[in-house]
Amino acid sequence: METLLSSTTLQLKPTPLHLQPFNSFFPKETLLSSSVFELKYSRKSKLGVHKGTLSQGSAFKVFASSQAAPASAEVSTSSSIPPSMKAWVYSEYGGVEVLKFDDNVAVPEIKDDQVLIKVAAAALNPIDFKRRLGKFKATDSPLPTVPGYDVAGVVVKVGSQVKGLKGGDEVYGDINEKALEGPKQFGSLAEYTAVEEKLLALKPKGIDFVQAAALPLAIETAYEGLERAGFSAGKSVLVLGGAGGVGSLVIQLAKHVFGASKVAATSSTGKLELLRSLGADLAIDYTRENFEDLPEKFDVVYDAVGQGEKAAKAVKEGGNVVFLTGAVVPPGFRFVVTSNGGTLTKLNAFLESGQVKPVVDPKGPFAFSKVVEAFSYLETNRATGKVVIHPIP
Ligand SMILES: NC(=O)c1ccc[n+]([C@@H]2O[C@H](COP(=O)([O-])OP(=O)(O)OC[C@H]3O[C@@H](n4cnc5c(N)ncnc54)[C@H](OP(=O)(O)O)[C@@H]3O)[C@@H](O)[C@H]2O)c1
Repeated sequence: METLLSSTTLQLKPTPLHLQPFNSFFPKETLLSSSVFELKYSRKSKLGVHKGTLSQGSAFKVFASSQAAPASAEVSTSSSIPPSMKAWVYSEYGGVEVLKFDDNVAVPEIKDDQVLIKVAAAALNPIDFKRRLGKFKATDSPLPTVPGYDVAGVVVKVGSQVKGLKGGDEVYGDINEKALEGPKQFGSLAEYTAVEEKLLALKPKGIDFVQAAALPLAIETAYEGLERAGFSAGKSVLVLGGAGGVGSLVIQLAKHVFGASKVAATSSTGKLELLRSLGADLAIDYTRENFEDLPEKFDVVYDAVGQGEKAAKAVKEGGNVVFLTGAVVPPGFRFVVTSNGGTLTKLNAFLESGQVKPVVDPKGPFAFSKVVEAFSYLETNRATGKVVIHPIP
């Protein structure tokens, strides 16, 4: 059951209807009257069954013909959600070359606890390319895949169980509750995406869509890792990979949300100033210094690079190491982020006050047509903060 954000919904059982793309050749067909705004329909394509709502504003038009009629057609005056959308899709695992632009992907159906978001901006995460490479095949959703975890956009349709969100709300979130366990087949690199309400939060005031898209998966990972490590006020932390999507937020959360006594972080030479601006008391240039040889040890080491033994050498006796990737070395642990709109809501005050800032890579935002370039750049492992895709058509 889903609720269209409409004022009127009518059931029509009219003259035979036949739906085709606007540019198809139908000499004897007649365009329906302009009072028909939308039409619910179902059809099949290579991406499965397309169900949706046709509107006169979409790339499709509604024609009357003498061919067989569907059993019924639902017409409403709701806002225009087209039946199909533009999206990036891959049908096989592999390098960036498997990414294809498709302008005829079905707009996803929503479940009772979901909303449909008109995507304003999306962001890439390393998990997007690791998934595309087939590293998580065993627990992935079936191909073809529309990639993308992070989204910021506007709610255009709500499911019947949705309590806290309504049409027009500006929201952001990581659309996959469990990053590796059955992530959604239809992700955020599309005009529309369907997301559970509990994974979303209202976009913080004063933060635009590009900035909001730069946050969800990375800030949730940063927060969950610090919490799981038992980080609290007065403790020290060393962040490995301080200039990356996750690291740039670990520095800020540790300093401004958890009340760290000291934050140290690593990056290459050109990014040291960024680390300091985010709140690092000590910025370590990994091209010149070995952090593991420093006499100072830390209560928590947050390793967003995958430095195993070296990371474990930098922790105090009784301390903890968070490993996001690579080998897990005692006393460390690894976890996989759980998407949680509640975490975002909790952090909204820090984002609205400017204490915590999204870091958007200055090479972006990348236009929707440049998704392949955006992936290629992320895959260099040199991105600063987040690689954001905007605008979405
Ligand atoms: N387990 C989970 O739930 C989870 C969640 C999120 C991310 N992850 C994983 O965590 C890792 C980081 O994610 P991310 O989104 O932060 O990646 P990212 O944004 O792509 O990281 C790029 C950054 O890494 C820095 N970097 C690379 N090598 C470094 C080194 N040896 N020392 C210090 N910094 C280095 C680069 O800075 P320089 O150019 O200065 O080297 C660059 O700014 C990825 O492997 C990702 O898959 C896991």
